[in-house]
Amino acid sequence: MHPARRAADGLVRARLLGRWSWPLSFDCSINRAAQRDALVSHRRLCTNRARCLNKEYASVNEGFFWTPEAEIGSLLKRHVKHQIRRFATSTKVNRNSRFDSLKTNDMEHFKSIVGAKGVIVDKDELVAANTDWMHKYQGHSQILLRPQTTQQVSEIITYCNSRNLAVVPQGGNTGLVGGSVPVFDEVIVNLGAMNKIIEFDEVSGILVCEAGCILENLDNFIGGKGFTMPLDLGAKGSCQIGGNVSTNAGGLRLLRYGSLHGNVLGLEVVLADGEVVNMLGTLVKDNTGYDMKQLFIGSEGTLGVVTKVSLLVPAKLGSVNTAFFACEDYTSCQNVLKEAKRQLGEILSAFEFIDRPALDMALTHLPGTRDPLPQSGKNFYLLIETTGSNETHDKEKLDAFLESTMEKGFVADGVVAQDSTQAASFWQIREGISEALGKAGAVYKYDFSLSPEHFYKIVEDLRDRLGSDAVVVGYGHLGDGNVHLNVSAREYKDELLEKVEPYVFEWVAKHKGSVSAEHGLGLMKPHALHYSKSAEAIALMERFKALLDPKGILNPYKVLPGTSKTVSTPASALNAESAVVV
Ligand code: FAD
Ligand code: MLT
Ligand code: ZN
Repeated sequence: MHPARRAADGLVRARLLGRWSWPLSFDCSINRAAQRDALVSHRRLCTNRARCLNKEYASVNEGFFWTPEAEIGSLLKRHVKHQIRRFATSTKVNRNSRFDSLKTNDMEHFKSIVGAKGVIVDKDELVAANTDWMHKYQGHSQILLRPQTTQQVSEIITYCNSRNLAVVPQGGNTGLVGGSVPVFDEVIVNLGAMNKIIEFDEVSGILVCEAGCILENLDNFIGGKGFTMPLDLGAKGSCQIGGNVSTNAGGLRLLRYGSLHGNVLGLEVVLADGEVVNMLGTLVKDNTGYDMKQLFIGSEGTLGVVTKVSLLVPAKLGSVNTAFFACEDYTSCQNVLKEAKRQLGEILSAFEFIDRPALDMALTHLPGTRDPLPQSGKNFYLLIETTGSNETHDKEKLDAFLESTMEKGFVADGVVAQDSTQAASFWQIREGISEALGKAGAVYKYDFSLSPEHFYKIVEDLRDRLGSDAVVVGYGHLGDGNVHLNVSAREYKDELLEKVEPYVFEWVAKHKGSVSAEHGLGLMKPHALHYSKSAEAIALMERFKALLDPKGILNPYKVLPGTSKTVSTPASALNAESAVVV
């Protein structure tokens, strides 16, 4: 190996000095599970942030404001400030007067269904369940139910429907659009106790499990049998497969394995009237009429509660390579993508984009992270992963790819991980950006689908527009045309939000993109749905909602714009009358 290509820190680096060759010691077979293991504790920390902070928060008057109990650190103080500020801005949502409030009798009835242990009224636990991962949305539910069977879910929902009690289905509560937490006093139905693996066929690779199974646990279970989950995301240590299905989560492997609309073979769903619909097929091909399960994938808990999932999972391949590249400009990133598709083809398993401000966020706020290319000083970075079954073949392909992209000047600097620890360190940066942003301050988070040509232009345009008012960062799944545009500021401010919205939504609509590529609409974006869907399509969505949930009890105020335009009800002792959405 050329000496200039080996950095002192042990990473294999290559510059535009000449041909990039593989080090003799290069370990081409990086076990992705091992990479992931290194990140588990990091993930648990970040995805359980709400829980970690709970003990130090106390709610006041059951209202919008939070206050520290005793001694709190600066991070907590900042969150308190954000909470107060946030609820002083933006779109107002009124509590739907059709919904009743929880009575003592209801509690007793729920205990008769799920037992005393399945009815959570503990303040700390409720605070966590009422608060979203970003600490941006705060509900006021007085009760969380933890059913253990589909029958119990059905009985809960039947009862809530008859009593006009609104319900929020909740998984790991890692959603990023405020969909998983109550807006007011909705009953939280958390699927976490339904976490059994029902069956796994090692020939077909078909997995059937309950909705509350944690994604990472499923990956570990099938990993031991030579398979892997077709989706992977930074929240895998906490998110549940039912939540993944309900958000149609994309993540880091969609490029390779496609969306859950293709991988989910069947679902069991409890409808708003409590009826259990068995669509839990385990067939790869089934053209018997309408494919009803598709309606529930990505419906964010507004059409039914997912209780069981059947999935086609791919074989876990042994040869994994991870590379981190620096590019001179965004056009070069596009060129690398074009080449990767052509040259790496079937072994390409991730193509992730990180701009300089996003990289800096991670390096500044995530302990233990290091710049993989400290001397490059570029503004554009790519994390590329290949996964295949033949080490020699994969190596040859990647070699040729690296050589040609460097010769053509598309890649300015690069490093290939030599082992699983180094690969994990690259992934830690990419997957940790959302956590880093949360630590940096207030975040306005957008998740757009745009053509490769426009993928980064929106970041630049917004950056120009905001000037020094905020830090605009861009990262995301470039291979899927999914940009994560984030605006990081010291605090939430009306004036800043007014500069960002509706500007970004109009920009996306003008360029024929989608205002939500993968995170969904939740509470954050129903008002923006019309930028991506025609009036007729929205009307049809509303008809489906009315058909499946005539009383609108399932996750109200979310997804559909109409559901938030409701009449306000007088504030009860327990409930806020209206909420304000940023
Ligand atoms: P929750 O957050 O609890 O719920 C999400 C929505 O689904 C809510 O509307 C809820 O009502 C509904 N829901 C949950 N369970 C059920 C059920 N059983 N039946 C019916 N409705 C239900 N998303 C991506 O697409 N790609 C990413 O790469 C990605 N990375 C992330 C990284 C981090 C660090 C974090 C915090 C989030 C990330 N997300 C990503 C967001 C993503 O939506 C969630 O992580 C995940 O899919 C949600 O699963 P969950 O179990 O936490 O669901
Ligand atoms: C990601 O790709 O990192 C996730 O979707 C989370 C985020 O957008 O911050
Ligand atoms: Zn993402």
